[in-house]
Amino acid sequence: MKILGIESSCDETGIGLYDSEQGLIDHTLYSQVAMHAEYGGVVPELASRDHQKRIMGLIEHLFEKNQLSWSQIDGIAYTAGPGLAGALMVGAGVAAGLAAAQSKTLIPVHHLEGHLLSPLLAEEKPDFPFLALLVSGGHTQLMAVKSIGDYTLLGETLDDAAGEAFDKCAQMLGLGYPGGAALSALAEKGEAGRVSLPRSMLKSHTLDFSFSGLKTAVLQTVKRFEQENALDESAKAAIARAFQDVAVEVLVRKSRQALQQTGLKQMVIAGGVGANKALRAAMQTMAAKEGTRVFFPPLALCTDNGAMIALAGAYRMHDRGSHHYGATIYPRWALEEVSRQHSSAVA
Ligand code: KG4
Ligand code: ZN
Repeated sequence: MKILGIESSCDETGIGLYDSEQGLIDHTLYSQVAMHAEYGGVVPELASRDHQKRIMGLIEHLFEKNQLSWSQIDGIAYTAGPGLAGALMVGAGVAAGLAAAQSKTLIPVHHLEGHLLSPLLAEEKPDFPFLALLVSGGHTQLMAVKSIGDYTLLGETLDDAAGEAFDKCAQMLGLGYPGGAALSALAEKGEAGRVSLPRSMLKSHTLDFSFSGLKTAVLQTVKRFEQENALDESAKAAIARAFQDVAVEVLVRKSRQALQQTGLKQMVIAGGVGANKALRAAMQTMAAKEGTRVFFPPLALCTDNGAMIALAGAYRMHDRGSHHYGATIYPRWALEEVSRQHSSAVA
């Protein structure tokens, strides 16, 4: 069974082709990052227009490159939410139109379910059940994943998402938008312990996260260095290092607590921040001590992409796929709502 996947929830137009027997066939991506960087964040209307401009060309390119024709495709999966309404509408409209024209099954996919299942695209794959840490630009959640569609939210951020915190701190250090990867690269050059930031959120015993205090502390530190005329490259690197150390420590400690509470022996880390090297290393160390195996998506598939949507579509073909060609979107959509017991409420 071959599925075409279309991702357009934010600022990347991603197209993927997944075969349930062979695995990922191919994927392609156009990132709008450079366009939005000028404005310091994603401009929704520009995002929608750019998706419109690129999407059909990317699909045609992927078909040609892999010498595929429509007759070989069984279903078309698209990100139905959560995300920017206009951007989602472009992917949904194209997917619904193509599915109607080619008589294919149309499969609305939850963006976070795509991220959650993306470690299944790696060479080493987890088995169900597993603990998932979803760390993206919009979400930070710990989920117990029993099987496809059986997700229990264990904890989430009470304010900023992890990626958002990385991006905001990067902006304070003049690293542009989105600055998560740049901040991480700078942190690698920073002296550990030169700057200290509060670890107050580590005192909470719940599985919820909070990054706003850390963000404020970074802002105060940047201002202090500025006042002292000392915000040079090495100071910036030390601040980036201190921020990353605390952010990673929080994510690792809460994950360890969730593993201990649930007794799960496997864990996956997905979403853009899952590309962070320090986080990957610290999670590996923690997991080894806990006797847990940890899985990541391939590096290129941590951030938004069409491959994970095609994969989730293949798993959801039978319970969510249909021949009703409405371009349905859910700009605000909790992942728990796609759990099996709730699926009729949103389908
Ligand atoms: O999953 P994603 O592509 O988009 C959302 O669904 O939000 O995640 C994007 C987020 C951005 O905040 C970006 O700065 C962050 O992931 N990110 C990183 C790294 N690479 C991307 N954060 C920290 N370290 C990285 N290496
Ligand atoms: Zn995402």
